[in-house]
Amino acid sequence: MKTCIAYYSKTGNTKMAALYLAEKIDAKVIKLDDKTNYGGIIGFIKGGMNASKAKKAELDSSLYDEISTFDRIILATPVWAGKTTPAINSVLENVDFEGKEVYVMTTQANPSVENTEARKSFYKDIIEKKKGSFIDCFCLQGSPPSKPARSKEELSSQVDQLVKIG
Ligand SMILES: Cc1cc2nc3c(=O)[nH]c(=O)nc-3n(C[C@H](O)[C@H](O)[C@H](O)COP(=O)(O)O)c2cc1C
Repeated sequence: MKTCIAYYSKTGNTKMAALYLAEKIDAKVIKLDDKTNYGGIIGFIKGGMNASKAKKAELDSSLYDEISTFDRIILATPVWAGKTTPAINSVLENVDFEGKEVYVMTTQANPSVENTEARKSFYKDIIEKKKGSFIDCFCLQGSPPSKPARSKEELSSQVDQLVKIG
């Protein structure tokens, strides 16, 4: 099945997990480049607020059509303020998910993943409204905000243990 992994990553955890998974399952990697400055403490607060308000990022719009050409779409994102990121909100709004299998992979600081069902329903509702099939959401642990990303070994071992595709 033609598969892509569309990822947004600020500090590298999600990127590392996405690249490892892509190599493992032979998927095309699509980077979502949100040019908003989320650096420093001001950026952190802004990121949390934008995520809370379900704001969308301005992305290169040709990416939406590109993502729509895949049969299986994996969205990879950090958790921000318990929610998803502006880049992923844009993808959820603009990609045509009709007939697609969709998976989500998240990374977060909190080691315990609470409210997994709420998280799954958030993605499921949107994907199903757009006539796609939401299959699963995998929650990985990244690093605390403003700390360097976890090591490749740690993230790839979580991908091996938690992420089950197709
Ligand atoms: C703006 C912002 C908000 C965050 N909110 C949460 C949160 O609500 N819960 C959590 O566990 N981690 C939170 N984090 C931590 C990130 O989810 C975590 O560091 C993630 O692995 C970062 O992924 P990245 O390195 O790919 O950017 C937040 C980080 C940022 C920058």
